[in-house]
Amino acid sequence: MAADKADAEKEKREKIDLIMKRKEEHIKICLDQPVQAKNVRTLFSDVRLLNNSLPEIDFDDIDTGTEFLGKKFSAPFMVGAMTGGAEMAKRINSNIGEAVEKLGLGMALGSQRAALYDPVLEETYTIARKKAPNAFIGANIGGAQISTGMKIEDIKKLVAMVDANALYVHLNPAQEIVQPEGEAKYRNVLEGIRAIVKSVGKPVVAKEVGFGISPMVATQLEKAGVSAIEIAGMGGTSYAAVEWYRAKAMGMADKMDLGSILWDWGIPTAASLYMIRKHSKIPIVASGGIRTGMEIAKAIAMGASLTAMALPVLRPATESADSVQKFIEKIILELKSVMFLLGAKNIGELRKTPYVITGELATWKEYADKREL
Ligand SMILES: Cc1cc2nc3c(=O)[nH]c(=O)nc-3n(C[C@H](O)[C@H](O)[C@H](O)COP(=O)(O)O)c2cc1C
Repeated sequence: MAADKADAEKEKREKIDLIMKRKEEHIKICLDQPVQAKNVRTLFSDVRLLNNSLPEIDFDDIDTGTEFLGKKFSAPFMVGAMTGGAEMAKRINSNIGEAVEKLGLGMALGSQRAALYDPVLEETYTIARKKAPNAFIGANIGGAQISTGMKIEDIKKLVAMVDANALYVHLNPAQEIVQPEGEAKYRNVLEGIRAIVKSVGKPVVAKEVGFGISPMVATQLEKAGVSAIEIAGMGGTSYAAVEWYRAKAMGMADKMDLGSILWDWGIPTAASLYMIRKHSKIPIVASGGIRTGMEIAKAIAMGASLTAMALPVLRPATESADSVQKFIEKIILELKSVMFLLGAKNIGELRKTPYVITGELATWKEYADKREL
Protein backbone atom coordinates (compact mmCIF):
# COMPACT_ATOMS: atom_id res chain seq x y z
CA MET A 1 0.00 0.00 0.00
CA ALA A 2 2.72 2.40 1.07
CA ALA A 3 4.73 1.36 -1.99
CA ASP A 4 1.72 2.15 -4.23
CA LYS A 5 1.43 5.58 -2.68
CA ALA A 6 5.15 6.21 -3.16
CA ASP A 7 4.90 5.12 -6.81
CA ALA A 8 1.93 7.42 -7.42
CA GLU A 9 3.79 10.29 -5.77
CA LYS A 10 6.86 9.60 -7.91
CA GLU A 11 4.77 9.50 -11.08
CA LYS A 12 3.11 12.80 -10.18
CA ARG A 13 6.49 14.42 -9.46
CA GLU A 14 7.81 13.25 -12.82
CA LYS A 15 4.77 14.74 -14.56
CA ILE A 16 5.27 18.08 -12.81
CA ASP A 17 8.99 18.13 -13.64
CA LEU A 18 8.22 17.40 -17.27
CA ILE A 19 5.67 20.22 -17.50
CA MET A 20 8.02 22.71 -15.80
CA LYS A 21 10.86 21.72 -18.10
CA ARG A 22 8.64 22.07 -21.19
CA LYS A 23 7.39 25.53 -20.10
CA GLU A 24 10.97 26.74 -19.62
CA GLU A 25 12.02 25.31 -22.96
CA HIS A 26 9.11 27.09 -24.69
CA ILE A 27 10.14 30.41 -23.18
CA LYS A 28 13.84 29.96 -23.94
CA ILE A 29 13.24 28.82 -27.52
CA CYS A 30 10.87 31.75 -28.15
CA LEU A 31 13.49 34.14 -26.78
CA ASP A 32 16.52 32.70 -28.58
CA GLN A 33 15.38 31.17 -31.87
CA PRO A 34 13.50 32.34 -34.96
CA VAL A 35 10.07 30.81 -34.27
CA GLN A 36 7.88 32.80 -36.60
CA ALA A 37 6.31 31.77 -39.91
CA LYS A 38 8.95 31.65 -42.66
CA ASN A 39 7.37 31.90 -46.08
CA VAL A 40 3.84 33.04 -45.28
CA ARG A 41 2.25 36.21 -43.95
CA THR A 42 -0.70 37.27 -41.83
CA LEU A 43 -1.95 39.03 -45.00
CA PHE A 44 -2.65 42.28 -43.12
CA SER A 45 -0.32 43.85 -45.71
CA ASP A 46 -3.06 43.07 -48.27
CA VAL A 47 -5.50 45.28 -46.34
CA ARG A 48 -5.25 48.94 -47.31
CA LEU A 49 -6.75 51.80 -45.35
CA LEU A 50 -7.58 55.11 -46.99
CA ASN A 51 -5.52 58.13 -45.95
CA ASN A 52 -7.76 61.01 -44.89
CA SER A 53 -6.15 64.40 -45.58
CA LEU A 54 -9.03 66.13 -43.82
CA PRO A 55 -9.32 64.19 -40.55
CA GLU A 56 -11.04 67.21 -38.89
CA ILE A 57 -9.84 66.10 -35.45
CA ASP A 58 -6.84 66.81 -33.23
CA PHE A 59 -4.59 63.95 -32.23
CA ASP A 60 -5.49 64.60 -28.59
CA ASP A 61 -9.21 64.12 -29.33
CA ILE A 62 -8.66 60.43 -30.05
CA ASP A 63 -10.11 57.94 -27.59
CA THR A 64 -8.94 54.33 -27.97
CA GLY A 65 -11.19 53.03 -25.16
CA THR A 66 -13.39 50.01 -25.79
CA GLU A 67 -15.17 47.13 -24.08
CA PHE A 68 -14.70 43.37 -24.30
CA LEU A 69 -16.89 40.80 -22.55
CA GLY A 70 -18.33 43.51 -20.32
CA LYS A 71 -14.95 44.85 -19.24
CA LYS A 72 -13.53 48.26 -20.13
CA PHE A 73 -10.16 48.40 -21.94
CA SER A 74 -8.19 51.64 -22.55
CA ALA A 75 -7.36 50.30 -26.03
CA PRO A 76 -8.43 47.27 -28.11
CA PHE A 77 -5.38 45.30 -27.04
CA MET A 78 -4.37 42.58 -24.62
CA VAL A 79 -1.33 40.42 -24.00
CA GLY A 80 -1.92 36.96 -25.45
CA ALA A 81 -1.68 33.73 -23.43
CA MET A 82 1.88 32.68 -22.76
CA THR A 83 2.98 31.09 -19.60
CA GLY A 84 2.93 29.89 -16.00
CA GLY A 85 4.16 26.76 -14.31
CA ALA A 86 7.88 27.57 -14.19
CA GLU A 87 10.14 29.91 -12.22
CA MET A 88 10.80 32.17 -15.23
CA ALA A 89 7.06 32.28 -15.88
CA LYS A 90 6.37 33.84 -12.51
CA ARG A 91 8.51 36.89 -13.31
CA ILE A 92 6.98 37.15 -16.78
CA ASN A 93 3.39 37.01 -15.49
CA SER A 94 4.23 39.45 -12.71
CA ASN A 95 5.65 42.03 -15.14
CA ILE A 96 2.82 41.66 -17.63
CA GLY A 97 0.23 41.87 -14.84
CA GLU A 98 1.76 45.04 -13.43
CA ALA A 99 1.92 46.70 -16.85
CA VAL A 100 -1.62 45.84 -17.98
CA GLU A 101 -3.01 47.02 -14.64
CA LYS A 102 -1.34 50.42 -15.10
CA LEU A 103 -2.50 50.66 -18.70
CA GLY A 104 -6.08 49.47 -18.15
CA LEU A 105 -5.70 46.51 -20.50
CA GLY A 106 -5.74 42.74 -20.02
CA MET A 107 -3.83 39.49 -20.35
CA ALA A 108 -4.43 35.79 -20.74
CA LEU A 109 -2.39 33.28 -18.76
CA GLY A 110 -0.68 30.25 -20.22
CA SER A 111 -2.15 26.78 -19.86
CA GLN A 112 -2.85 26.24 -16.14
CA ARG A 113 -2.76 22.45 -16.05
CA ALA A 114 0.53 22.57 -14.13
CA ALA A 115 -1.18 24.36 -11.23
CA LEU A 116 -3.51 21.40 -10.71
CA TYR A 117 -0.66 18.99 -10.18
CA ASP A 118 1.37 21.15 -7.85
CA PRO A 119 -0.03 23.91 -5.60
CA VAL A 120 3.48 25.41 -5.41
CA LEU A 121 3.15 26.28 -9.09
CA GLU A 122 -0.09 28.17 -8.42
CA GLU A 123 1.88 31.26 -7.55
CA THR A 124 3.38 31.44 -11.03
CA TYR A 125 -0.18 32.22 -12.21
CA THR A 126 -1.76 33.98 -9.22
CA ILE A 127 1.05 36.55 -9.24
CA ALA A 128 -0.66 38.06 -12.31
CA ARG A 129 -3.91 38.70 -10.39
CA LYS A 130 -1.94 39.97 -7.41
CA LYS A 131 -0.26 42.55 -9.64
CA ALA A 132 -3.41 43.27 -11.62
CA PRO A 133 -6.33 43.40 -9.19
CA ASN A 134 -8.59 45.22 -11.68
CA ALA A 135 -7.41 44.20 -15.14
CA PHE A 136 -9.03 41.59 -17.37
CA ILE A 137 -7.37 38.21 -16.83
CA GLY A 138 -8.07 35.05 -18.80
CA ALA A 139 -7.63 31.60 -17.25
CA ASN A 140 -6.45 28.92 -19.69
CA ILE A 141 -6.89 25.21 -20.38
CA GLY A 142 -6.26 23.10 -23.48
CA GLY A 143 -8.56 21.17 -25.79
CA ALA A 144 -6.49 18.01 -25.25
CA GLN A 145 -7.18 18.22 -21.50
CA ILE A 146 -10.91 18.48 -22.19
CA SER A 147 -10.70 15.43 -24.43
CA THR A 148 -8.84 13.44 -21.79
CA GLY A 149 -11.46 14.22 -19.16
CA MET A 150 -10.35 17.22 -17.09
CA LYS A 151 -13.08 17.59 -14.47
CA ILE A 152 -15.35 20.61 -14.37
CA GLU A 153 -14.54 21.10 -10.65
CA ASP A 154 -10.86 21.35 -11.58
CA ILE A 155 -11.59 23.85 -14.33
CA LYS A 156 -13.61 25.94 -11.87
CA LYS A 157 -10.68 25.76 -9.46
CA LEU A 158 -8.32 27.14 -12.13
CA VAL A 159 -10.72 29.99 -12.92
CA ALA A 160 -11.19 30.86 -9.23
CA MET A 161 -7.44 30.62 -8.58
CA VAL A 162 -6.82 33.80 -10.62
CA ASP A 163 -10.31 35.29 -10.23
CA ALA A 164 -10.50 35.16 -14.02
CA ASN A 165 -12.79 37.33 -16.10
CA ALA A 166 -13.01 34.60 -18.73
CA LEU A 167 -11.83 31.07 -19.40
CA TYR A 168 -9.69 30.59 -22.50
CA VAL A 169 -9.72 27.17 -24.13
CA HIS A 170 -6.79 26.74 -26.47
CA LEU A 171 -7.25 24.46 -29.46
CA ASN A 172 -3.84 23.27 -30.60
CA PRO A 173 -4.01 19.97 -32.54
CA ALA A 174 -1.16 21.06 -34.83
CA GLN A 175 1.07 21.71 -31.82
CA GLU A 176 0.17 18.45 -30.11
CA ILE A 177 1.00 16.43 -33.23
CA VAL A 178 4.52 17.91 -33.49
CA GLN A 179 5.29 18.11 -29.77
CA PRO A 180 7.65 15.27 -28.76
CA GLU A 181 5.44 14.25 -25.81
CA GLY A 182 2.24 15.74 -27.29
CA GLU A 183 -1.23 14.32 -26.76
CA ALA A 184 -2.96 14.17 -30.13
CA LYS A 185 -6.27 13.59 -28.41
CA TYR A 186 -9.11 15.70 -29.71
CA ARG A 187 -12.22 13.52 -29.42
CA ASN A 188 -15.31 15.12 -27.86
CA VAL A 189 -13.72 18.54 -27.38
CA LEU A 190 -16.71 20.43 -28.79
CA GLU A 191 -19.08 18.54 -26.52
CA GLY A 192 -16.76 19.29 -23.60
CA ILE A 193 -16.72 22.99 -24.45
CA ARG A 194 -20.54 22.99 -24.57
CA ALA A 195 -20.64 21.49 -21.06
CA ILE A 196 -18.03 23.94 -19.74
CA VAL A 197 -19.94 26.93 -21.16
CA LYS A 198 -23.02 25.78 -19.24
CA SER A 199 -21.33 25.26 -15.92
CA VAL A 200 -18.17 27.33 -15.52
CA GLY A 201 -19.97 30.59 -14.71
CA LYS A 202 -17.63 32.82 -16.77
CA PRO A 203 -17.48 33.70 -20.46
CA VAL A 204 -15.54 31.10 -22.47
CA VAL A 205 -13.15 32.22 -25.21
CA ALA A 206 -11.90 29.61 -27.69
CA LYS A 207 -8.48 30.30 -29.15
CA GLU A 208 -5.91 28.74 -31.44
CA VAL A 209 -2.18 28.96 -30.75
CA GLY A 210 -0.97 30.28 -34.11
CA PHE A 211 -2.67 28.16 -36.80
CA GLY A 212 -5.91 30.15 -37.18
CA ILE A 213 -9.59 29.27 -36.89
CA SER A 214 -11.70 28.43 -39.93
CA PRO A 215 -15.20 29.90 -40.37
CA MET A 216 -16.66 26.38 -40.05
CA VAL A 217 -14.99 25.78 -36.68
CA ALA A 218 -15.97 29.30 -35.57
CA THR A 219 -19.61 28.51 -36.31
CA GLN A 220 -19.40 25.24 -34.36
CA LEU A 221 -17.86 27.08 -31.41
CA GLU A 222 -20.45 29.83 -31.57
CA LYS A 223 -23.23 27.23 -31.53
CA ALA A 224 -21.55 25.57 -28.54
CA GLY A 225 -22.02 28.87 -26.71
CA VAL A 226 -18.53 30.38 -26.53
CA SER A 227 -18.58 34.16 -25.93
CA ALA A 228 -15.67 35.05 -28.22
CA ILE A 229 -13.04 33.58 -30.50
CA GLU A 230 -9.36 34.46 -30.52
CA ILE A 231 -8.02 33.68 -33.97
CA ALA A 232 -4.29 33.22 -33.18
CA GLY A 233 -3.73 32.81 -36.89
CA MET A 234 -0.74 32.03 -39.04
CA GLY A 235 1.97 34.58 -39.79
CA GLY A 236 3.41 35.12 -36.31
CA THR A 237 4.67 32.58 -33.79
CA SER A 238 4.60 29.05 -35.17
CA TYR A 239 4.22 26.40 -32.50
CA ALA A 240 5.28 23.78 -35.06
CA ALA A 241 8.57 25.68 -35.15
CA VAL A 242 8.85 25.84 -31.35
CA GLU A 243 8.30 22.08 -31.07
CA TRP A 244 10.72 21.49 -33.97
CA TYR A 245 13.52 22.95 -31.84
CA ARG A 246 12.54 20.71 -28.93
CA ALA A 247 12.41 17.65 -31.20
CA LYS A 248 15.86 18.57 -32.52
CA ALA A 249 17.29 18.77 -29.01
CA MET A 250 15.80 15.33 -28.27
CA GLY A 251 17.11 13.83 -31.53
CA MET A 252 13.60 12.94 -32.77
CA ALA A 253 14.01 12.99 -36.55
CA ASP A 254 10.38 12.12 -37.40
CA LYS A 255 9.01 14.91 -35.21
CA MET A 256 11.53 17.30 -36.78
CA ASP A 257 10.25 16.39 -40.25
CA LEU A 258 6.67 16.97 -39.12
CA GLY A 259 7.66 20.28 -37.57
CA SER A 260 9.31 21.33 -40.84
CA ILE A 261 6.29 20.59 -43.01
CA LEU A 262 3.88 22.21 -40.54
CA TRP A 263 6.11 25.23 -39.78
CA ASP A 264 3.98 27.48 -42.02
CA TRP A 265 0.72 25.52 -41.60
CA GLY A 266 -2.47 27.37 -40.88
CA ILE A 267 -4.86 30.10 -41.90
CA PRO A 268 -3.38 33.59 -42.25
CA THR A 269 -4.72 35.81 -39.47
CA ALA A 270 -6.35 38.41 -41.75
CA ALA A 271 -7.98 35.64 -43.83
CA SER A 272 -9.31 33.92 -40.72
CA LEU A 273 -10.67 37.26 -39.48
CA TYR A 274 -12.37 38.10 -42.76
CA MET A 275 -13.95 34.64 -43.10
CA ILE A 276 -15.24 34.39 -39.54
CA ARG A 277 -16.61 37.95 -39.61
CA LYS A 278 -18.36 37.19 -42.89
CA HIS A 279 -20.25 34.25 -41.42
CA SER A 280 -20.69 35.06 -37.74
CA LYS A 281 -21.43 37.90 -35.33
CA ILE A 282 -19.37 36.49 -32.47
CA PRO A 283 -16.80 38.89 -30.90
CA ILE A 284 -13.36 38.20 -32.36
CA VAL A 285 -9.92 38.80 -30.89
CA ALA A 286 -7.52 39.15 -33.80
CA SER A 287 -4.10 37.70 -33.00
CA GLY A 288 -1.22 35.75 -34.51
CA GLY A 289 1.51 37.92 -36.00
CA ILE A 290 -0.01 41.26 -35.03
CA ARG A 291 3.06 43.42 -34.58
CA THR A 292 2.09 47.08 -35.04
CA GLY A 293 -0.62 49.58 -34.18
CA MET A 294 -1.31 49.77 -37.92
CA GLU A 295 -2.25 46.07 -37.94
CA ILE A 296 -4.45 46.64 -34.90
CA ALA A 297 -6.27 49.42 -36.78
CA LYS A 298 -6.75 47.12 -39.78
CA ALA A 299 -8.06 44.29 -37.60
CA ILE A 300 -10.60 46.59 -35.90
CA ALA A 301 -11.70 48.00 -39.26
CA MET A 302 -12.26 44.41 -40.41
CA GLY A 303 -14.53 43.70 -37.45
CA ALA A 304 -12.33 42.47 -34.60
CA SER A 305 -13.39 43.57 -31.09
CA LEU A 306 -9.89 43.34 -29.67
CA THR A 307 -6.37 42.31 -30.66
CA ALA A 308 -3.64 40.41 -28.84
CA MET A 309 0.12 39.97 -29.11
CA ALA A 310 2.18 37.26 -27.42
CA LEU A 311 5.77 36.86 -28.70
CA PRO A 312 6.65 40.59 -28.94
CA VAL A 313 5.80 41.00 -25.24
CA LEU A 314 7.93 38.06 -24.09
CA ARG A 315 11.35 39.73 -24.03
CA PRO A 316 10.19 42.94 -22.34
CA ALA A 317 8.35 40.75 -19.82
CA THR A 318 11.61 39.00 -18.86
CA GLU A 319 13.06 42.46 -18.11
CA SER A 320 10.55 44.55 -16.15
CA ALA A 321 6.97 45.80 -15.91
CA ASP A 322 8.28 49.11 -17.17
CA SER A 323 9.68 47.51 -20.35
CA VAL A 324 6.30 45.87 -21.01
CA GLN A 325 4.52 49.16 -20.41
CA LYS A 326 6.85 51.08 -22.76
CA PHE A 327 6.42 48.49 -25.49
CA ILE A 328 2.61 48.56 -25.27
CA GLU A 329 2.55 52.37 -25.13
CA LYS A 330 4.55 52.47 -28.37
CA ILE A 331 2.02 50.16 -30.05
CA ILE A 332 -0.94 52.24 -28.82
CA LEU A 333 0.75 55.41 -30.07
CA GLU A 334 0.98 53.78 -33.50
CA LEU A 335 -2.71 52.85 -33.34
CA LYS A 336 -3.66 56.40 -32.35
CA SER A 337 -1.53 57.83 -35.17
CA VAL A 338 -3.29 55.64 -37.73
CA MET A 339 -6.69 56.59 -36.25
CA PHE A 340 -5.69 60.26 -36.68
CA LEU A 341 -4.83 59.62 -40.35
CA LEU A 342 -8.22 57.98 -40.84
CA GLY A 343 -10.12 60.73 -39.03
CA ALA A 344 -11.43 58.09 -36.59
CA LYS A 345 -12.05 59.75 -33.22
CA ASN A 346 -12.88 56.54 -31.40
CA ILE A 347 -13.03 52.77 -31.82
CA GLY A 348 -16.65 52.92 -33.00
CA GLU A 349 -15.57 55.17 -35.88
CA LEU A 350 -12.53 52.98 -36.59
CA ARG A 351 -14.90 50.01 -36.98
CA LYS A 352 -16.69 51.85 -39.75
CA THR A 353 -13.57 52.93 -41.64
CA PRO A 354 -13.47 51.68 -45.23
CA TYR A 355 -10.72 49.32 -46.38
CA VAL A 356 -9.63 47.67 -49.60
CA ILE A 357 -8.56 44.05 -49.87
CA THR A 358 -5.78 43.30 -52.35
CA GLY A 359 -3.43 40.46 -53.28
CA GLU A 360 -3.72 36.97 -51.80
CA LEU A 361 -6.29 38.11 -49.25
CA ALA A 362 -8.65 38.90 -52.14
CA THR A 363 -8.60 35.18 -53.01
CA TRP A 364 -9.60 34.25 -49.45
CA LYS A 365 -12.31 36.91 -49.58
CA GLU A 366 -13.66 35.47 -52.80
CA TYR A 367 -13.75 31.99 -51.23
CA ALA A 368 -15.55 33.25 -48.11
CA ASP A 369 -18.00 35.45 -50.01
CA LYS A 370 -19.16 32.57 -52.19
CA ARG A 371 -19.31 29.95 -49.51
CA GLU A 372 -22.48 28.96 -47.67
CA LEU A 373 -21.73 27.60 -44.25
C1 LIG B 1 6.25 31.61 -25.06
C2 LIG B 1 4.84 31.36 -25.52
C3 LIG B 1 4.04 30.49 -24.79
C4 LIG B 1 2.72 30.25 -25.17
N1 LIG B 1 1.93 29.45 -24.40
C5 LIG B 1 0.60 29.37 -24.66
C6 LIG B 1 -0.27 28.70 -23.74
O1 LIG B 1 0.14 28.15 -22.73
N2 LIG B 1 -1.60 28.68 -24.04
C7 LIG B 1 -2.11 29.30 -25.16
O2 LIG B 1 -3.32 29.33 -25.33
N3 LIG B 1 -1.29 29.90 -26.05
C8 LIG B 1 0.03 29.97 -25.82
N4 LIG B 1 0.86 30.64 -26.70
C9 LIG B 1 0.31 31.11 -27.99
C10 LIG B 1 -0.05 32.59 -27.97
O3 LIG B 1 -1.11 32.84 -27.08
C11 LIG B 1 -0.45 33.11 -29.38
O4 LIG B 1 -1.69 32.55 -29.74
C12 LIG B 1 0.57 32.82 -30.45
O5 LIG B 1 1.88 32.98 -29.95
C13 LIG B 1 0.40 33.74 -31.68
O6 LIG B 1 0.55 35.10 -31.34
P1 LIG B 1 1.94 35.90 -31.62
O7 LIG B 1 2.26 35.71 -33.09
O8 LIG B 1 1.63 37.33 -31.27
O9 LIG B 1 2.99 35.31 -30.74
C14 LIG B 1 2.19 30.88 -26.36
C15 LIG B 1 3.03 31.73 -27.09
C16 LIG B 1 4.32 31.99 -26.71
C17 LIG B 1 5.17 32.92 -27.53
